[in-house]
Amino acid sequence: MASRSAVISGTGMSVPERVVTNADLEKLVDTSDEWIRTRTGIRERHVAREDECMSKFAVEASRRALEAAAVDAKDVDLVVCATVTPDMPIPATSCSIQQQLGCGKAAAFDMQAGCSGFIYAQSVAKQFLLTSRCSHILVIGAELLTKFVDWSDRTTCVLFADGAGATLMSAGEAPRGVLASVMHTDGNMGDFITLEAGGTLHPPSEETLRRGMHFIRMRGNETFKIAVRMLEDVAREALDQAGIPAERVDWFIPHQANLRIIDAVAKRLAIPEERCCVNVDRYGNTSAASIPIALDEAVRSGRVRAGDVVLMAAFGAGLTWAASVVRW
Ligand code: ACO
Repeated sequence: MASRSAVISGTGMSVPERVVTNADLEKLVDTSDEWIRTRTGIRERHVAREDECMSKFAVEASRRALEAAAVDAKDVDLVVCATVTPDMPIPATSCSIQQQLGCGKAAAFDMQAGCSGFIYAQSVAKQFLLTSRCSHILVIGAELLTKFVDWSDRTTCVLFADGAGATLMSAGEAPRGVLASVMHTDGNMGDFITLEAGGTLHPPSEETLRRGMHFIRMRGNETFKIAVRMLEDVAREALDQAGIPAERVDWFIPHQANLRIIDAVAKRLAIPEERCCVNVDRYGNTSAASIPIALDEAVRSGRVRAGDVVLMAAFGAGLTWAASVVRW
């Protein structure tokens, strides 16, 4: 008898309509389209309107994933939303997503692991599918990072963007499914990417607002230097765990933070450019949403087919880094 596995049965994505180009940002800060393109690979990004919140896009992406899987919202057992930009601190946004979708029997919780959040959430969902009675789990990565961007800080405002991606994960049968998941954290580098205020350490106050502590700050260059090695190492660890050599990877879906990081990691893993899914040029860095958005595009364009080996890898605030290997 085939053994139980955790398969991805449907994918979906949703991004705000409004597109902001590098030329638009040239009007806000001292930057240039040339600098942004050559240093990051980003050409444009989607930015939510003032009246839009994260759950709007998470719900749309989830509806598409449910449709693709042909599974009714009522049959979902758990909703896990990876995000650093919830609708509000209390209650968890996944509860609102559960209500808006009509997943009446599902438990729901948010998960915070920076840009690695989607892979962390996928790993948690895999455990539930393998060890509990759960049959269907919505795993979402959704962010409206621009709500916390300092539009006068050129080192961050050109990078961060908005969007949501979702996968429905279902109990299935090997050899399909998640073959390996690896997660790492090193809190020593916690100050590389931060949004300091709004929690118990620095509750919201006039002082925190005045000092701009509600904005995302990043030590970009230091993050860049270790990101490449972290991504390579964690990808190799996940491939080893799955017993699959790098040359057997059909699709590499890395976190979309910077084209130079993606190119360097793919080169080190000897994964050819045409097997690497890249959309940072059109979406910028959408943190936990970047991998499920890229995955949905790869699936809907017909690139990812049954039996393919998909490698996903991410790193982000925490610092956290993670990878997974999935047989489609
Ligand atoms: N336009 C023009 N010049 C700029 C801009 C800009 N938008 N931003 C910075 N510069 C300048 C800097 O001031 C600096 O000038 P100086 O030499 O006169 O001091 C120069 O450009 C070089 O700056 P660096 O920071 O060294 O540039 P770098 O090549 O490292 O690129 C970047 C910066 C794109 C941020 C890169 O470091 C990066 O991508 N880092 C990784 C980011 C990341 O992936 N983070 C993790 C995920 S995020 C999350 O978890 C939410």
